[in-house]
Amino acid sequence: MTEQTTDEFTTPYELLGDQGIKRLASEFYDVMDSLPEAAHIRAMHASDLGNVKRMLAAYLTQWMGGPPVYLAVKGTVCLTDPHKPFAIGPKERDMWLKCMDLALERTGASEQVRTMLKEPFRHVAETVRNSEDGIPKARDPNIIAVG
Ligand code: HEM
Repeated sequence: MTEQTTDEFTTPYELLGDQGIKRLASEFYDVMDSLPEAAHIRAMHASDLGNVKRMLAAYLTQWMGGPPVYLAVKGTVCLTDPHKPFAIGPKERDMWLKCMDLALERTGASEQVRTMLKEPFRHVAETVRNSEDGIPKARDPNIIAVG
């Protein structure tokens, strides 16, 4: 039997496993759905969170070192396009991270996993940020003028 290692090469995927990541993604959106201060980011999402829970689980599985299941469905791992329709500023970014922090806590993730994920999550969330202030910009009237 191979012994489970927790050395510097252990990935979050190895520590959480497929089911742990699915539970995390599901809990994440349940937190977002129930936290009053997250209402403005919850409102950006479809009323049924089933699909986005599955997509987040697929993305995190791959991102945490597991098989490329998100790539298999989407053909890319780029998160810019899926977030383009939404104005995501520092407030939205930080609320997303708060929901993730609570989801990690509520799913009983170990300190080791939480420490491993803290900075990388911050980094991705900052990359997803596409606005200075989270206020949707009015469309350029010239775009309307030229149809
Ligand atoms: C670590 C940062 C983040 C990750 C890993 C992440 C991941 C994802 C993924 C995998 C999807 C599904 C995309 C698809 O359909 O292929 C998604 C959708 C979405 N994300 Fe994020 N996201 C992050 C940050 C944020 C932030 C800061 C916001 C701000 C509110 C946000 C709002 C949304 C919205 C509104 C959708 C679309 C949901 C829908 O279609 O109903 N995300 N995100």
